[in-house]
Amino acid sequence: MKEQHYNVTVKVFEGLNELTRQDQLLLEKAIAARENAYAPYSNFKVGAAALLDNGEIVLGSNQENASFPSGLCAERVAVFQAGARFPGVPILSLAISAGSDEEPSKEPAAPCGNCRQSIYEYEHKQGKPIRVILRGSLGPVYIINAISDLLPLGFNSSQLNSQ
Ligand code: THU
Repeated sequence: MKEQHYNVTVKVFEGLNELTRQDQLLLEKAIAARENAYAPYSNFKVGAAALLDNGEIVLGSNQENASFPSGLCAERVAVFQAGARFPGVPILSLAISAGSDEEPSKEPAAPCGNCRQSIYEYEHKQGKPIRVILRGSLGPVYIINAISDLLPLGFNSSQLNSQ
């Protein structure tokens, strides 16, 4: 028996002003995208902004539904839109800002399991890491170098027999 260890490094920044200009701008777009969230059921608004290798920035926000499971998270709205509008163009970074209307979140919210899997699909396909930049409504910023760091032992197409 041996043990394998999977580590995740999270870079913690005290605020937006510690980020590179490019990361700052991307996060500001994610924060602004939160305003377009349609979240009447949870009142928890999430905005996402994906920076693509061609310089385009694609936005997303969570879109809820009276039939709850039919809604979609901000991250998937953004990355699916990137895939649909710019097929084959790698996603370099994804900034995410999340928080409830009633109580500003002081800690970043990391993407849910479904979103990690969906984002990882693109990272695996493009063979280049997708950086993840996280912030609540206030407080510190977390940067993770690759979505696969948040999905150890992630499932990908190489595990399917036919691939
Ligand atoms: N949500 C996101 O948009 N991203 C996440 O990573 C976590 C949750 C949304 C889904 C739902 O509209 C609301 O936040 C509450 O779960």
